[in-house]
Amino acid sequence: MPLSALGWRYLDKCVITGVTSMMFSKNATFSKNTFAVSVAMGLALMAASNSAFSQDLARAQGRVSDPGVRGGPAGGGAPISAADGLNENELKQFNEGKFRATELEATCETCSQIIPGTMSGESPFLNTITNSAGLGARFNGDQCSVCHSQPDIGGSGGFFVPNPVEAKRDPSKAQRPENPMFRLIPHRHGQTNKTPSFIKQYGPIREARFKFKSDGTRDGGVHQLFTVVGRDDDPGNAGCSIKQPDFETELANNNISFRIPLQLFGLGLIDTIEDQEIIKRHDASAAYRARFGVAGRTNRSDNDGTITRFGWKAQNKSLTVFAGEAYNVEMGVTNELFPQATDETDNCNVDKPHPNDVARTANNDLTNDSFFNPIHIFADWMQFTFWMRFLDAPKPVALTAQAQRGQQVFADSGCAACHTPQMVTAATTQSPSVEGKTANLYSDLLIHHMGANLADNVIQGQAGVDEFRTQPLWGVGQRLFFMHDGRTNDLVQAIREHVSPATPANPRTKLPALPASEANLSVFSYFAKNPADQQALLVFLRSL
Ligand code: HEC
Ligand code: HEC
Repeated sequence: MPLSALGWRYLDKCVITGVTSMMFSKNATFSKNTFAVSVAMGLALMAASNSAFSQDLARAQGRVSDPGVRGGPAGGGAPISAADGLNENELKQFNEGKFRATELEATCETCSQIIPGTMSGESPFLNTITNSAGLGARFNGDQCSVCHSQPDIGGSGGFFVPNPVEAKRDPSKAQRPENPMFRLIPHRHGQTNKTPSFIKQYGPIREARFKFKSDGTRDGGVHQLFTVVGRDDDPGNAGCSIKQPDFETELANNNISFRIPLQLFGLGLIDTIEDQEIIKRHDASAAYRARFGVAGRTNRSDNDGTITRFGWKAQNKSLTVFAGEAYNVEMGVTNELFPQATDETDNCNVDKPHPNDVARTANNDLTNDSFFNPIHIFADWMQFTFWMRFLDAPKPVALTAQAQRGQQVFADSGCAACHTPQMVTAATTQSPSVEGKTANLYSDLLIHHMGANLADNVIQGQAGVDEFRTQPLWGVGQRLFFMHDGRTNDLVQAIREHVSPATPANPRTKLPALPASEANLSVFSYFAKNPADQQALLVFLRSL
């Protein structure tokens, strides 16, 4: 796959003109010492390889390759084990939360095909029966699991059989699994949605953020791809005639940024890491980071000032907040955390309570919402949290000798300057299952300037237009697509995409002047290694 023109040309240019110019970027967070060490490192790198460096790069292109998505058992999806401290009640909460995350939404209580909260007996990968109700006028998906399924429920974005109703009648008619946003979600129950051109049949699940509003001010928000117009199971919605946004025009105007789903495995551990642990790890790596010119900073909550850590820009505070927000933003289901609908058009919200998903107070359990049944009393958004809290971390496979070599190359190349291999969760929590545990997450949970090549021109909290959270690499061995917008399915390309020079303000992309990517030196250092070492790193990553 070709490197984005920018990155590849820049790699060449650096080797010729010297890494030094790149280091004198506008990145104010570098200290003088950092500069000196980094420049020395850059020069050493050049001196060592010089023009051989670019030849190495060119040669390596053909010789190293991503081993591809790891086969074998799914490395994630199971609850934390009893041996690791999960008790029976927590397991029940996990199971109920997982079940609710696979429920298929209808738009009203009476049009759900079976009573909401009732098990349909279907495989979560072949859902056809609606057993929940609350789907909003606009949405990206109609169940959590449709976007979090790879390599198992709770993972990142995966593929689905596009014709489940037919496939259930006659399994031989099941079509090849594909991106569920291509045909399955937009047309479920007669919906008449048009699939935007950026949703490809075998491409990544994507949600769309608009960079600017039509008046030129910043937008940055999610614009849901689909509407409930045309649904054949809800007579109340017959008068609903809202339109999908004009994605093709926005696309032509370069006004859309994409985000792909993140995996949910191990998030209970990330939720339980104390701020002081994040800061301590960052401080401890100062000398190592300086060698590679890596800075990094926190994104923090405007409300309580603590470190936010979920989402591609570390924009969200907690698992619970993310669950409530995803329910409203992705599926249009209003809840106690996000009580107002993203589209309040009356005709498209007929008879729908707002908020829809709240703590249950029924006197009996006939509709699975009894105040007296502990497993039914919590609202979905809270129950999703329990599921995610107790979803076990992704399990790597045993490292072969080559993978172990790759782990060393990962450290030697400075990848670990951002992708911090380990953090330890809080020493005292309410559950031994997440208490004092080592999370092998490969992330510092901090945001970094990645430069113009990755910049999405969206600001979230302190995260600016080109800043992203170091993507945790646990589970990367079984992921289909990489980087925030899913621009590649090739690990080698994903690494190259980290590279970016400092750039002046650009009127066409509406990006301000940006510093060079903090990852430049690390990536150069990796591509300067011999092909066997480069390959070993890829094998290591696919073991995770
Ligand atoms: C239409 C697809 C889609 C659906 C449906 C969906 N998600 Fe997501 N999920 C995403 C995307 C895209 C992201 C990354 C968002 C970002 O950072 O901007 C994400 C991120 C997350 C994260 C953050 C993970 C991390 O490592 O920081 C959590 C938690 C999450 N989703 C939970 C849920 C829950 C719970 C549901 C159901 C209520 C749900 N999602 C439904 C697409 C989806
Ligand atoms: C300056 C910090 C930094 C350094 C150094 C760095 N990375 Fe990253 N890495 C990131 C960030 C930030 C992302 C997410 C980028 C985005 O959102 O598009 C990322 C994403 C990735 C991904 C994609 C994972 C996914 O699930 O999408 C891979 C693979 C990866 N890095 C590997 C590496 C390797 C290998 C190295 C060393 C050669 C490295 N990184 C060095 C910050 C860094």
